[in-house]
Amino acid sequence: MPHPFVLLSAAVSLDGYLDDTGPERLLLSSPADFDRVDEVRASVDAILVGAGTIRADNPRLLVNSPGRRAARVASGRPEYPLKVTVSGTGELDPAANFWHTGAEKLLYTTDKGADHAHTLGLATDVVPLGPDLDWRRLLTHLHEVRGIDRLMVEGGGTIHTQLLQQGLADEIHLVLSPLFVGTPTAPRLFGPGPYPPGRLRLLETRQIEDVVLMRYEPTAPGTGPLPAAADHHWLRLACELATHCPPSRTAFSVGAVVVAADGTELSRGHSREADDPVVHAEEAALAKLAPADPRLASATIYSSLEPCAHRASRPKPCARLILDAGVRRVVTAWREPDTFVEGADGNGLLAAEGVEVVVLPEYEERAKAPNGHLLG
Ligand SMILES: NC(=O)c1ccc[n+]([C@@H]2O[C@H](COP(=O)([O-])OP(=O)(O)OC[C@H]3O[C@@H](n4cnc5c(N)ncnc54)[C@H](OP(=O)(O)O)[C@@H]3O)[C@@H](O)[C@H]2O)c1
Repeated sequence: MPHPFVLLSAAVSLDGYLDDTGPERLLLSSPADFDRVDEVRASVDAILVGAGTIRADNPRLLVNSPGRRAARVASGRPEYPLKVTVSGTGELDPAANFWHTGAEKLLYTTDKGADHAHTLGLATDVVPLGPDLDWRRLLTHLHEVRGIDRLMVEGGGTIHTQLLQQGLADEIHLVLSPLFVGTPTAPRLFGPGPYPPGRLRLLETRQIEDVVLMRYEPTAPGTGPLPAAADHHWLRLACELATHCPPSRTAFSVGAVVVAADGTELSRGHSREADDPVVHAEEAALAKLAPADPRLASATIYSSLEPCAHRASRPKPCARLILDAGVRRVVTAWREPDTFVEGADGNGLLAAEGVEVVVLPEYEERAKAPNGHLLG
């Protein structure tokens, strides 16, 4: 199910702490960086923090700039983003600033937590998500029921850790602050546990007074039927590659990318590339790799269109080339229509031989865009 774009935002000390252990909130950002955070808040539909942050910091989580609030209203959005929190127990202070400032509030919790929250009379909508809190359900609910497209997550570490480990973070805004905490029991940004493998992509570094902002994007593909945030990135790239194809009235324009398990791009291709009038995108991408490349067995292929199952111009269709290459996961945006081949079912062929096929229909329109002239 489609989710909002999830942006994790945090500031850490040079020794990696989110806070110290004192009663007051440790100010890690500089004044200009707090203003940058205000700007990011003004750009999103909702801001989420964990119950631990409400207890420790008693934050208001407002857009402070009147100009930014006015711009939101002028563009038809609420003056403040929706404020969202997460608690398993529902044990939250009804007097906390979170409930009494800004616009609408929403508490996601467990069934038990919802009962407790109701007895406390918290000034918020309460959404129970079952016996346990499931992040995918939460994000789907935020998107589908509350119409949230962009979500900013402002901590704390328990929340950031889960979203990153579950492959649900699309971008990280990390501010490094020039001070030390030095207390081992102070909260850290990311806790132990299984993270997506490999290196994240550095999108930007920016000095802001005496702090440094780093923006990162996860790159490692998901590993099963559920899409990870990086799957969206790579499928968008495949759709973008489809727009580079030489035009044709007799074949689709398709883009494909092969990505290793650690997020390294191995190869890419698009239909009819390099003056080959019949080459397909997946075929072109796979041809750039040695057949014995050991990374293929755990790689994911992203293709804007379902890999073909029948082919007149070559001995093997792309679904067979993928199987022969040993790739076990395929992510695609658009099922092949009957335009050239009736009942083509490349996804079915792949799945029948044990390949995990993930279809993300929210990218179908992008995949179709360079093929409009074929679709009537
Ligand atoms: N430097 C920064 O940028 C920054 C930003 C934010 C926060 N912080 C600091 O971070 C610290 C707080 O971090 P934290 O890790 O203790 O708390 P947190 O991440 O804000 O919240 C953790 C709480 O959220 C609920 N929760 C999280 N995942 C859950 C799940 N899967 N199921 C059910 N409930 C879940 C639980 O609430 P219940 O206990 O109610 O069940 C849990 O105790 C504070 O010291 C704060 O100052 C720093």
